Amino acid sequence: MKKGEFTFTLIKPTAVRLGNLVPILHEIDLAGFAVIAMKMTRLSRAQAERFYEIHKERPFYRDLVEFMSSGPVLAAVLQKENAVNDFRKLIGNTNPSQAEDGTIRKKFARSVQENAIHGSDSDDNALIEANFFFSQFEIFSH
Ligand code: GTP
Ligand code: MG
Repeated sequence: MKKGEFTFTLIKPTAVRLGNLVPILHEIDLAGFAVIAMKMTRLSRAQAERFYEIHKERPFYRDLVEFMSSGPVLAAVLQKENAVNDFRKLIGNTNPSQAEDGTIRKKFARSVQENAIHGSDSDDNALIEANFFFSQFEIFSH
């Protein structure tokens, strides 16, 4: 995997539960991202705490951890030029009421917390997050 050419995503529990997994993957495909790793899994509370550790001091941290470990998620590594920035544009603002029309969060989010999908916010975090979920043998970089 070349730095700058991949990002990491999680389709969050509510989106999976509501049957929006395939529709969201379709949007990702239409936007030109190639799936190079993918698994459905469920985060333990400890894993969710680690994944969102940077938000430890925020008032919503406990709720966020509870939510992210509440059901299965879909984890994937996506390859594309300028992947991190293009993917953040595709998913839209954290708060769906501020997300632009056509973005995944505008279409599928229920609230700021249950906002359907995660996207890495930097190339460094994309690598950290991909390695959190996948071994090198599970990532099929082109
Ligand atoms: P991620 O791609 O999931 O990291 O979202 P983001 O980068 O757009 O937002 P951020 O990293 O700031 O927040 C991480 C996650 O915490 C968000 O996606 C939401 O699920 C949740 N979150 C952020 N802000 C709030 C908030 O004000 N209240 C609640 N309940 N949850 C929040
Ligand atoms: Mg974030």
